Amino acid sequence: MEKNWGAETAGAPLEPRNKKTAFRTLVLPIVGIWTIWILFRTYSTWAFPDPAVVPSSSQKCPQVEPLFPALRSQEMDSMDMYLESDTFLNKSVSRLSGAVRIPTESFDDMGPYLAVTFPLVHASLQIEKVNTHGLLYTWAGSDTSLKPTLLMAHQDVVPVPDATVGQWTHPPFSGFFDGKFVWGRGASDCKNQLIAILEAVEALLESDFSPRRTLLLSFGFDEEISGREGANTLAPFLVKRYGKGGVAAIVDEGAPNAEVWGRNFAVPGVAEKGYVDVDIVVRMPGGHSSVPPKHNGIGVASELITRIEENTYEPRLDDQNPYLELMRCGAEHAPAFPSKLKKLLKSRDKKSSRAQEHTCNKKDRLALEASKENLLVKYLMTTSVAVDIIHGGVKTNALPERTQFTVNHRINVGSSSQDVFGHIAGIAKGVAEKYGLALTPFNGTETPFSITLSYHDTKLEPAPVTPTGLGDEDHDTAYGILSGTTRALYGQDLLVAPGIMTGNTDTRYYWDLSENIFRYGPGWDREQTGFGNIHTVDEKVGAKAHVDTVRWMAGFVRNMDEANL
Ligand SMILES: *[C@@H]1O[C@H](CO)[C@@H](O)[C@H](O)[C@H]1NC(C)=O
Ligand SMILES: *[C@@H]1O[C@H](CO)[C@@H](O)[C@H](O)[C@H]1NC(C)=O
Ligand SMILES: [Zn+2]
Repeated sequence: MEKNWGAETAGAPLEPRNKKTAFRTLVLPIVGIWTIWILFRTYSTWAFPDPAVVPSSSQKCPQVEPLFPALRSQEMDSMDMYLESDTFLNKSVSRLSGAVRIPTESFDDMGPYLAVTFPLVHASLQIEKVNTHGLLYTWAGSDTSLKPTLLMAHQDVVPVPDATVGQWTHPPFSGFFDGKFVWGRGASDCKNQLIAILEAVEALLESDFSPRRTLLLSFGFDEEISGREGANTLAPFLVKRYGKGGVAAIVDEGAPNAEVWGRNFAVPGVAEKGYVDVDIVVRMPGGHSSVPPKHNGIGVASELITRIEENTYEPRLDDQNPYLELMRCGAEHAPAFPSKLKKLLKSRDKKSSRAQEHTCNKKDRLALEASKENLLVKYLMTTSVAVDIIHGGVKTNALPERTQFTVNHRINVGSSSQDVFGHIAGIAKGVAEKYGLALTPFNGTETPFSITLSYHDTKLEPAPVTPTGLGDEDHDTAYGILSGTTRALYGQDLLVAPGIMTGNTDTRYYWDLSENIFRYGPGWDREQTGFGNIHTVDEKVGAKAHVDTVRWMAGFVRNMDEANL
């Protein structure tokens, strides 16, 4: 998945390309989309509770029953058995390994490999290329009144910097299989998802499944550099064909299952934080360094930066923030859930039902307490602020006339870029007044005595939150079907709770197509520790987890096919 927004506006006066690449591949992975996963690992010291003492559902944190497809046939049953066999595991490993051997760092066409590896898919589905390399597969359903299901993945991978090739246990594009793991760049981000989707469809075709509901597969090719050519053209293409809200549910790459507070959870991402970079330019008179004023442009910019860092955002849990529901599940079912949080949660839920008292000026005590856990948790419910780039001055004998810095923000659920603009402009106003400078937010014009603010066109609002209601019956909603499919595969001791992503996937372009967007990695190897080293050295995926991704995809397609959505 993508973890950076490195592709700035053309001509932006920022960093050299190679530095950006290094930043993107080495540093960002630590704070990216897998944040939630890492945070979960921090709680993983507790024993697995006895499922018998934990009710599988309750009013809070309701859980759906496992959902098995009702429509069966001998062929479908043997398919289910085949997908659990060693024969299939071997085949699946060699397919994934073959895909990893195609180095799709800069674009390298996977089309021919996919055509040879999945002959039935290529003989039976309609295949369209959108913007040259974007792949759209359509398996037409018999009932055109049903909205299609859409499965997504991206074909590209993040580059392997030359300097790190030697550190790999097995070469990054070898697809080496050690009997347990398939190794290589893309093995877990996310050729596993791409190959698993196609394997599921190939298996369904082999067993003569024929869908009522149309199935769409959409594979972008530049997700790791923000999807501007791939998803950004595939999504409008689909909106044009099926209309706004024309798709029943979308599943894209996302967080894997994990243990939280001593309980195992699936946390399909139903929300993503927003994003905005703000450039601030301080223009002050130049002159000779031997006769400096008390504060020059660099000094003023420094003061402004200090104030920005002193006035960061408070943690705040919007009613829509999925972390709230995860905490409710934790309070209800997880043995290691902190009692102080439980109390605060109870009091918040009581207040919520009386009246919406969470006004913007009041401190959010629950969020403050939850944030104490660590920074990764804090930023699931807080707009982040980081001054990342600065330029100013050119010579030691000349006072700086122009000082520029860039402030990166990841916008909290329930907030917006407008909130961020207002906040940062307010801080700049104080400094501008102090030094008699003009202030021109936003995208203001520079004058010789000014502070100007502007934002990059990489701005993205927080994603609309996917509904997580369950309807009257257990499996009436897309979230219910996803949950039921997951619990059918992994058992009822696994709970499903909504998750939040601090980074963004290709789904950022698909908001118009469906309100039911899930970012979820369904492959789960309970024995596997570590998160597959995405974006770094020794990326790998467990073969068992990969096969489970195939089984999940096949189950989800069948369950969606039978659903009345
Ligand atoms: C799977 O592959 C392994 C070697 O990687 C082999 O020993 C085993 O017999 C194979 N199993 C089947 C059922 O093909
Ligand atoms: C200024 O605003 C526009 C939106 O109107 C944006 O797309 C553009 O990239 C902004 N930033 C700069 C540095 O011009
Ligand atoms: Zn990815």
